Amino acid sequence: MTDTFIGIIGGSGIYDIEGLDNPEWIGIETPWGSPSDQILTGMLDGVGMAFLPRHGRGHVHTPSSVPYRANIDALKRIGVTDVISVSACGSFREQMAPGDFVIVDQFIDRTFAREKSFFGPGCVAHVSVAHPTCPRLSAACLSAAIDAGITVHDGGTYLAMEGPQFSTLAESKMYREQWGADVIGMTNMPEAKLAREAELCYASVAMVTDYDSWHPDHGEVDVSQIIATLMGNADKGRAMVRRLPALLGADRTPCPHGCDRALDHAILTAPDR
Ligand code: ADE
Repeated sequence: MTDTFIGIIGGSGIYDIEGLDNPEWIGIETPWGSPSDQILTGMLDGVGMAFLPRHGRGHVHTPSSVPYRANIDALKRIGVTDVISVSACGSFREQMAPGDFVIVDQFIDRTFAREKSFFGPGCVAHVSVAHPTCPRLSAACLSAAIDAGITVHDGGTYLAMEGPQFSTLAESKMYREQWGADVIGMTNMPEAKLAREAELCYASVAMVTDYDSWHPDHGEVDVSQIIATLMGNADKGRAMVRRLPALLGADRTPCPHGCDRALDHAILTAPDR
């Protein structure tokens, strides 16, 4: 049995977490370069916590320039077992309204200008991402959000776009009507795929900030609208995070869904090569 160590990757509007015992910002370097920022570590209810601002404090990284491999590797190196992404998203569903949270369970990856794997020539691996999020960790996020009084939706398909521009109206309608996506954002891929390659449990909590551009009553998306909703969402996000240690517990049993053994049948290159 190992100790639970929760890693939070916070998106736009979330640049720290409150209430940690012995908080310390630590700098980590990785073979993939520097992560987005230092990592805030500490204890919450007797459970190790790490927080990494995805865009860096001061919001310096674009969705395309976030060093996704360094971020996941840095969390792995300090002993994180469970990674929770908290990020802003647009909604394709009337019932997933601004201010609501969605516990994402599927992705459509439309990103194209990012490094997507830790593997490459010399060590070839094909890991399964059929079920890209961890059901155990997602269930804990759902309970934490419900306990915090948040309107939360259990399950949803997240379309990851490259950005930085928002979608055209034609794209927005296609993702919603033809592709069946529920929410849209710019950062959860390749993060989720890399977490799986790193054998980390990964859950994604998407905080709805807008209706993207498809909605006839809401017009175009703009950053001021997103920021206004984010301010409320960030407090809710923190309230959810505070409840996670008590729900997950300090003693961590192997992942019942095998996230922590994802590479057992994934590597093709011979071990002696
Ligand atoms: N992040 C927040 N709202 C978004 C939207 N509508 N499209 C892409 N990313 C977003």
